[in-house]
Amino acid sequence: MAGAEPTLVAGGNYIKEGLDSAKSTCLIFSAEEEVGSLARSLKLFEMTGVNLLHIESRSSVRFPGQYEFMVECAPGGNLAAAIEKLQSITSYLQIITRNHKDNTGTVPWFPQRMRDLDKFANQILSYGSELDADHPGFTDPVYRKRRKYFADIAYNYKHGEPLPHVDYTEEETYTWSQVFNKLKTLFPSHACREFNHVFPLLVENCGYREDNIPQLQDVSNFLRDCTGFTLRPVAGLLSSRDFLAGLAFRVFHSTQYIRHPSTPYYTPEPDVCHELLGHVPLFADPAFARFSQEIGLASLGAPDDYIEKLATCYWFTVEFGLCRQEGQLKAYGAGLLSSFGELQYSLSDKPELRPFDPAKTALQKYPITEYQPVYYVAESFEDAKEKLVKYSQTIPRHFGVRYNPYTESIEILNSKPQIQGLIDNIQQEIQILVTALRKL
Ligand SMILES: [Fe+2]
Repeated sequence: MAGAEPTLVAGGNYIKEGLDSAKSTCLIFSAEEEVGSLARSLKLFEMTGVNLLHIESRSSVRFPGQYEFMVECAPGGNLAAAIEKLQSITSYLQIITRNHKDNTGTVPWFPQRMRDLDKFANQILSYGSELDADHPGFTDPVYRKRRKYFADIAYNYKHGEPLPHVDYTEEETYTWSQVFNKLKTLFPSHACREFNHVFPLLVENCGYREDNIPQLQDVSNFLRDCTGFTLRPVAGLLSSRDFLAGLAFRVFHSTQYIRHPSTPYYTPEPDVCHELLGHVPLFADPAFARFSQEIGLASLGAPDDYIEKLATCYWFTVEFGLCRQEGQLKAYGAGLLSSFGELQYSLSDKPELRPFDPAKTALQKYPITEYQPVYYVAESFEDAKEKLVKYSQTIPRHFGVRYNPYTESIEILNSKPQIQGLIDNIQQEIQILVTALRKL
């Protein structure tokens, strides 16, 4: 549709801002432990003509002894009246909505369960088979059909399923081999220590070879063993908000198609070479994994302007980051590690270098179709993470968030009993460590 094309923003070609199509609202509220409390609450929605798409009940962690309900309301009906009535009978109410407005106490929607990431598929801003007129594959019907195949398998993917196995064609494997062989010559001298530490493991464990495009499932299994990161196929462009939210779960949304064979050293968008050669090795590093997850956690429920700032930080670190190791400049950003030309350029004396400082980096403008004029240099991943954590404390949000790996869910931290429970857990962990230390 003319005029409705989303504009590009931070984070790479498949992170675009656009209008959300699904406008459901998620309400979390508590109720006394007594028979019929849920039925009474649900009556409110019936009375106000609000349709519920999903209902969950759990034991409350905020008010021990009470229940907590999560209902997902479809757009339509008198939701405002339902919320007002609900407020009068509940001690706790949290409103999380794609349709959020500032200063109303509502929180921008974010996934709370790993399976909520399935909802991103319906929020894609442009489908992976829709190529721009200047795309190298625009006039190639065979390539376009192939792109549609990749978009479809990703669109239909659901959390918990095996990642789709792809039989790559000879032509696709040849394109991969050209990229793989060329980049391999630069990695020892240009990539950071962590990258070069992990790369041989990917060769041994995941089929990183010139004559084989690795399967996402094998790579995801390897990452899970190293840092708990996993891959998810993505059918098209996600909003910055959705893409960053995935990182909070240590989930990376990965493309699975490969660039057009006519331009093996150029792609206008992320492809499997960019993901597997650029991103994957670093996600196997514990400190880098923590850093990436911090960006994701900071983004959950953050106001729109902060999403843009965090996406810019992501751009200058995960995509185009440099670091200093033993006095030498090295690359750790995936956009650099998957580009033969820019990898060399970034370490030359041409670009401007600045120290990574989230508050300043977040405001930096950048081009997306040419080499970066400015790069930000991190002292270490740990240092970058510390700085980002400090920066994220400035983001206006009236609760804390934490990822619980046991339940694969995001916990909204806004009550003393929850935090006391977590402190008790930490005390137990420390006891385990002290006991182990005594045995050494
Ligand atoms: Fe990327």
